[in-house]
Amino acid sequence: MSFKNKIFCALDFSDLEQTVQFTNKIKNHVGGIKIGLEFFCKNGPAGVERLKEFELPIFLDLKLHDIPNTVTKAFRNLMSLSPAYLTVHLNGGKRMIEGLIEYKKKTKLIGVSMLTSLDQNDLKKSGIMCDEMSYVEKLVKIGTSSGIDGVVSSPKEVKLLRKKFKKLIIITPGIRLPDDDKNDQKRIETPGKAIKNGSSLLIIGRTITKSINPISSIEKIIQNIENAI
Ligand code: C5P
Repeated sequence: MSFKNKIFCALDFSDLEQTVQFTNKIKNHVGGIKIGLEFFCKNGPAGVERLKEFELPIFLDLKLHDIPNTVTKAFRNLMSLSPAYLTVHLNGGKRMIEGLIEYKKKTKLIGVSMLTSLDQNDLKKSGIMCDEMSYVEKLVKIGTSSGIDGVVSSPKEVKLLRKKFKKLIIITPGIRLPDDDKNDQKRIETPGKAIKNGSSLLIIGRTITKSINPISSIEKIIQNIENAI
């Protein structure tokens, strides 16, 4: 069994031509591509249209978070791009999320729980006195009761989340091979463990994009999953 379809590469580039060239290189080896703020703030909807030419599922990770009226209007504008997935922050609350459901068509609405670059200390500094898992679970419950299709969590929480939310799409960034640099991520895990623990999709950026041989890195990721299953 190939796990290729579980791998979405985070294309955190600013330059359109570099992004196009890189996507061309990896297009047959991944299940989809993730476009985030870096790319979108430079290249906008036209840049997304260009990447749609590769006919790969697009995960538009813009993490919308504002008052319900503003998010609904932004979301309706983005729906013309018909991405396969689009993210909003669960922190935006129930009313913000519920307002989007009627407009989402085929796009899966994905709620971001707690960023993988944050840990318990960061929560404490914001006056949030519960542990990471309880915080993530609370956010996920807001999402599921508001009609969300899936959530983004760190691979550290995926096992417990999968037990409680059997059918939910759970997407995990914060993926690193055993010898990788953590960079700015804190709550990380290997691809194999994330999938074994119930992750539906892996978002992987620098392990692939900063590799001198991206295809070989993707092969290592798939090998790591196969060894864990
Ligand atoms: O390079 P790396 O594999 O750390 O990239 C992870 C990607 O996942 C980045 O594009 C980042 O924006 C995204 N992401 C994340 N944590 C979240 C949600 C998305 O790291 N909670």
